[in-house]
Formats: sequence, C-alpha cells, structure tokens
Amino acid sequence: MPDSPLNLRLLTHLPPAELRGRRVLLRLDLNVPIERGVVTDDFRIVSSLPTIEYLRAQGARLAIVSHLGRKPEETLLPVAHFLEKLFPVRFCPIVAKLKSMLADLPEGGVLLLENIRREAGEETNDDALARALADSADLYVNDAFASSHRTHTSIVGLPRYLPAVAGLRFAKEVENLGRAFTPPHPFLIILGGAKFETKLPLIERFITMADKIVIYGALAHAFFKELGYELGESLVDKETTVARPFLYHPKIILPADVRVKNGERIFIKTPDTLVATDNILDVGLISIEKLLPIIRSAKFILWNGPLGNFEHGFHGSTEAVAKFISASNAESIVGGGDTVASIRVLNILDQFDFVSTGGGAMLDFLATGTLPGLEALKTSPFLPKLSS
Ligand code: 3PG
Repeated sequence: MPDSPLNLRLLTHLPPAELRGRRVLLRLDLNVPIERGVVTDDFRIVSSLPTIEYLRAQGARLAIVSHLGRKPEETLLPVAHFLEKLFPVRFCPIVAKLKSMLADLPEGGVLLLENIRREAGEETNDDALARALADSADLYVNDAFASSHRTHTSIVGLPRYLPAVAGLRFAKEVENLGRAFTPPHPFLIILGGAKFETKLPLIERFITMADKIVIYGALAHAFFKELGYELGESLVDKETTVARPFLYHPKIILPADVRVKNGERIFIKTPDTLVATDNILDVGLISIEKLLPIIRSAKFILWNGPLGNFEHGFHGSTEAVAKFISASNAESIVGGGDTVASIRVLNILDQFDFVSTGGGAMLDFLATGTLPGLEALKTSPFLPKLSS
C-alpha cells in the first residue's frame, strides 16, 4: 500500500473491488447550518460528496455518521432530506438499529445515522459505543476532517476496532493545509475572529516561518488591552497577557483604525482614542488599504477568521480582503466557518486555491501538524485490508 506524505492510510489505497458489498461507517462533517428544518449552507455536504460517490460506485453499503450541534435534541433529518435529492437515503434513528439496517442495504445503498451526539458516550470516547458501532461494519472511513480535533468515539474510538482509512476530503485537507509547512515566500497569515487563545498556538508556530501576520477582528483587542488602550464595550478576551510576547513584533500587523459603534452612530477612530461607550465592530479603511500591497506581493496566503463583526452586519473589511486575495496571484488557503460563509456570499469561493472545511480543526492541524483523528487512523492496529 502506498503511503501518503503523512503516512496516512487512504481510502483510495484500497483495491476498489474489495469494497463491493462491504459495510462502511463513513464519518462526515454534516453539522451544517439549518434554519426551520432546511439546510442553509451546503458547503460541508458538497465537500463530502466525492467520498460518498466513490464508495457508492464501488458497491459499498454506507452508514454515514455525523454530529450536529451541541444540544442532544438536534436532528440530522434535514440533512437526510437534502441528501435524498441526490440519492436514496434511509434514516437510522439509533445505533442499536444500525447493524440490521446496514446489513439490509443494497450494494451502493446509503443510510444516515441520527446525530451521533445523541448517543451516550460519543463525547467521552466511550469504549462500549465504539464496539457497538464497529460491530455493525467492516471498514471505517474518516472524512470528517473538521471534527478530527475532537477525541470523540466516532473520530478516535472506531479505528481501535475497525480497519480505518482517511476519505478523499480528509486527504485533500491534509495535503493542502500541509502546504503551509513549506510555503513559498512572502508568506502572509491573516487572522481574525475572536478567542485569541485558540489562535495563539498557530502564531507561535508560524511567527518565524511567516513573513507577516495580520491580526485583525476581535483578536486585535487583546493587543489593544495590553497596550493599555480604552476598549469601551468592545469584545475582549479575559486573559490577554498571552498577547504580550507579540506586542511590538515587527512581523505582526494590527489595525491602524477601527470602526466603532456608539449608540446608533458609527465612527472611525484610531484604536488609542476610544471612549468608554464605544464598541469596535470592524477595522477602518486605512487598515484595509494597508493590506493591499502586502497581499499583492505575497506568494502564499493563509486566512482564518472574519475581520469584522459579521453577525452584526460588519462585513466590509472581510469582503474587501477576500476580493484583494482573489485578485492576487498568491496561492491562497482560507478556512473557518464564518470566514467561508462570508466569502460564499460574494460568490468568489472558487477563486481561492483551497477552502478548508475546518475551523478549530484547521487551526489545530496547522499549529501541531496533526489531529487526534489523524493519529487514530495512523495508529489503528488493523491494516485496512478487508478479509472476506
Ligand atoms: C466544527 O464545526 O468546527 C467541527 O465540526 C466541530 O464541531 P463542534 O465544535 O460542535 O465540536
């Protein structure tokens, strides 16, 4: 079996004829936005289709496993309805029925298991749940890159009991995001969004390798706080001292101006001139324009996190930067749920070289070079050879 650069065992390494009639547990990222019972953003579903189609074409029997949200009552039924428009789908309400339903499927047939987080033990990587799931199938395929930073049963537990391989999308994520480990230069990283501590490991890993790191969005507020600026009502992390080592770092670019809301009025200010009733919701024009020459001269751009408060309609800077990048010659990689959703609105997703399905998983993979789900595939005790 050929090895991929990360020694990953891939679905495409298996002889296709071996898949005929096999019962496959396919872990996908089908946790998509749903409003009033209807899928409103199909990016993650569409990204999963090549693996589904590949397995169906080989005549495998597929049980798709995914989580949805954090509340146990959330249901994957709307996703089943979405998929039904593409191919027949049976819906399996609980793991207890999975084995018999999977055995009943015709070759190339598909069933979707209800939100796996409804099962006790999914989030605690419970051994009994892993065994129950594994008992119903012959092969485990992880194509849920965006969930592979979770040490949950359906991500890290199953490879202990089943031959395990990575799906097509998973392989694509690893291959494309892995480009950041040997990037062409100038290498530009753009970070936005909130929760500085989730992006800190990435900054620490790349501060030497990258040529510039832009820190906009609410992430920048941690720096402003450490610089002693008044932040008014702006969103800021509780713990900001972690920003200290990077405060005056020559590679770090912070916003030169910010767009603040005060009552019903919007002002553009320099970050050190806020008053107690101001709320920063986006960066200003100078900050946006400052990025244009940097983006134009970059050869490789990695972007995660919206640059303004998207939920409150402040998407001007995110859109402008998306357009700068799509018009540049740089190789570009973008990821993160809100970032991708905002670029999708502009209809320019296809102008990026790679759009990651991952949010937290993308950040963790970049920061550490691996993920719990990836390690589980690598250390699975089973060789993914299917015995008859
Ligand atoms: C994501 O949506 O970022 C991942 O799929 C993980 O989902 P979770 O944050 O609900 O664990």
